[in-house]
Amino acid sequence: MARRRKIYEGKAKILYEGPDPNTVIQYFKDDATAFNGEKHAVIAGKGVLNNRISSHLMTKLEEIGIPTHFIRSINMREQLVRSVEIIPIELVVRNIAAGSLCKRLGLEEGEILHKPLVEFYYKKDELGDPLISEDHIITFGWADHYELEEMVAMAWRVNDYLNGMFAGIGLRLVDFKLEFGRIWGEHGELYLVLADEISPDNCRLWDAKTNEKFDKDRFRQDLGDLVEGYEYVAKRLGLIPEDGILKGGSINEQLAENLDQIENELAERRRLRDLKAGKPRKL
Ligand SMILES: Nc1ncnc2c1ncn2[C@@H]1O[C@H](COP(=O)(O)OP(=O)(O)OP(=O)(O)O)[C@@H](O)[C@H]1O
Ligand SMILES: [Mg+2]
Repeated sequence: MARRRKIYEGKAKILYEGPDPNTVIQYFKDDATAFNGEKHAVIAGKGVLNNRISSHLMTKLEEIGIPTHFIRSINMREQLVRSVEIIPIELVVRNIAAGSLCKRLGLEEGEILHKPLVEFYYKKDELGDPLISEDHIITFGWADHYELEEMVAMAWRVNDYLNGMFAGIGLRLVDFKLEFGRIWGEHGELYLVLADEISPDNCRLWDAKTNEKFDKDRFRQDLGDLVEGYEYVAKRLGLIPEDGILKGGSINEQLAENLDQIENELAERRRLRDLKAGKPRKL
């Protein structure tokens, strides 16, 4: 493949220029970081699993009418997405108390919140992504009232849908983080779309019966093999076979490639079905 221009390298992903100016390629790395980069490790297979899980969840969300940046999976580590202007806010939706919420407010981990909580954080690594209020967002112009309202409405819908989806496979969706981006249409109209990734790197997922953790807390808290946890989530979602795609730290590349093709075919079939049903699609 021709040399591609790297646009950005983050902690978990690399962005490359896509085949046309409105697209970028997200490459999922095997790097795991926690505590704002203080703890770091390279964990074989993590990128492959996150790419697969995120592609799947984004496709499912598109199906229920949530616009996302996802276009298609390219290979086991890469996906093609729409290039967006990232809004510098992270929305965190919480159903059960865990992580920084417990530290900040002295709550017991596992306490069920009587209604889901939406929090905002300013995306700024140097400041450790501080918690902010809606007023900060407006005052500093990070997003306007309409965008804020739309992001919160989408976050609630995503929560509703994912909660049900994970409950159906025996997992509790404790909390998750979303990022949104702006896309301009041909006539200057603005669309907000869900961007970045949705994977066990930025969701907390616990077993419904035992509360065993299958997300990045395995790494943060040294609770056991990270990839095993992510593989478990992918298996329950029906994305990889029961015997997994990793053996002793190496990936069954042929299998991963076949799974990519299957995922894309399914996405294409859904797209055709939507077109036949006359559903409008945002480009
Ligand atoms: N469709 C998109 N177009 C442009 N940028 C995107 C898109 N989706 C995600 N991004 C941005 O690409 C970067 C992804 O890299 P990664 O997740 O590794 O970053 P990070 O190290 O976590 O840093 P950050 O704090 O910026 O998220 C993020 O900054 C994210 O906001
Ligand atoms: Mg990130």
